[in-house]
Amino acid sequence: MAKPRIYITRKIPDKLLDPYNEKFDFRMWEKEDEAVPREVLKKEARQADGLLCVLTDQIDEDLLKRAPDLKIVANMAVGYDNIDVDAAGKYGVIITNTPDVLTETTADLGFALLMAAARRMIEANQYIRKDEWKNWSPYLLAGSDIHHKTIGIAGMGRIGKAIARRAKGFGMSVVYYNRSRKPEAEKELQAVYADFETLLAKSDFVVSVLPLTADTKHKFNAEVFKKMKNSAIFINISRGGVVNETDLAEAIRTKQIKGAGLDVFENEPIAANHPFMQLEEIVCMPHIGSASEETRSAMLNLCLENIGGFFTGRGPKTPVEY
Ligand code: NAP
Ligand code: GLV
Repeated sequence: MAKPRIYITRKIPDKLLDPYNEKFDFRMWEKEDEAVPREVLKKEARQADGLLCVLTDQIDEDLLKRAPDLKIVANMAVGYDNIDVDAAGKYGVIITNTPDVLTETTADLGFALLMAAARRMIEANQYIRKDEWKNWSPYLLAGSDIHHKTIGIAGMGRIGKAIARRAKGFGMSVVYYNRSRKPEAEKELQAVYADFETLLAKSDFVVSVLPLTADTKHKFNAEVFKKMKNSAIFINISRGGVVNETDLAEAIRTKQIKGAGLDVFENEPIAANHPFMQLEEIVCMPHIGSASEETRSAMLNLCLENIGGFFTGRGPKTPVEY
């Protein structure tokens, strides 16, 4: 019997494929510094039984309807807003994602961004690099305290809870907003449930860990920034699409809020001329939430386990429910 044909949309280490080479016929986009062009992805999908893709690959109806043999798409991300799950259901394609394996690593980055924005760490590093450090003065690069402040977590899922655990270590009060109450987080982390408006009003740090959906698109907009404290710092580690970026830049420019730490943007990658780059109060990272070597390998391994499980009849380990 012919081996299932799996197309991998980025270059990944050959050694990860070793345990699977006997059972699968792998093809891979080989250029490390270039994303697979759309037309190549569509052509490869037409001839594939499975795809291992990344979060910038758009798996839409146009692609799915032209891929007659495609049975599984293993997304190397926990978020799957790049995939049209309704169309996948329509064409009988299973979608899998990578929950849990990246939770702690992403929470580390989220908290690092919070700290970098609060304590002006990028600005401070630049200050030395630009050779501007000539003396010490009482308020030189003075930022905001983190310890014992209030953190408001929007989206108390796996990563939200991991952020809350870190916040507890800093003596912070944790409030959260989520579409369902999380009694275990309330008990274990003393997290206090709040409606969205209350969270905005109370928090010194507002952290978005909400997935991007029709309900959350541009949830953080001018009206919302107006309801935050003027001293608040906004952190986004979920998806750029949950924020109206023009409104965020304006809120910071007009000192409606104090600053932001962003790992994700509506249209990635952003360039050096992006308006956020004009604002020192914003710390930007190139979507590296889960980017530790260990976690990226764990994510790829989970994708391969999902594909392996599907084709051997055990079933995928982490299918997306839709
Ligand atoms: P998760 O466990 O599914 O958590 C998401 C939480 O958001 C859930 O508690 C869910 O509530 C809540 N939620 C969903 N829609 C909502 C709405 N409309 N209003 C209020 N609450 C809502 O996911 P996760 O593993 O924590 O990941 C969260 C997101 O982080 C991912 O979707 C992804 O976009 C992003 N992410 C980014 C990076 C990065 O590199 N920056 C890395 C990993 C993940 P219920 O429990 O009621 O469903
Ligand atoms: C990364 O952004 C993910 O969703 O895993």
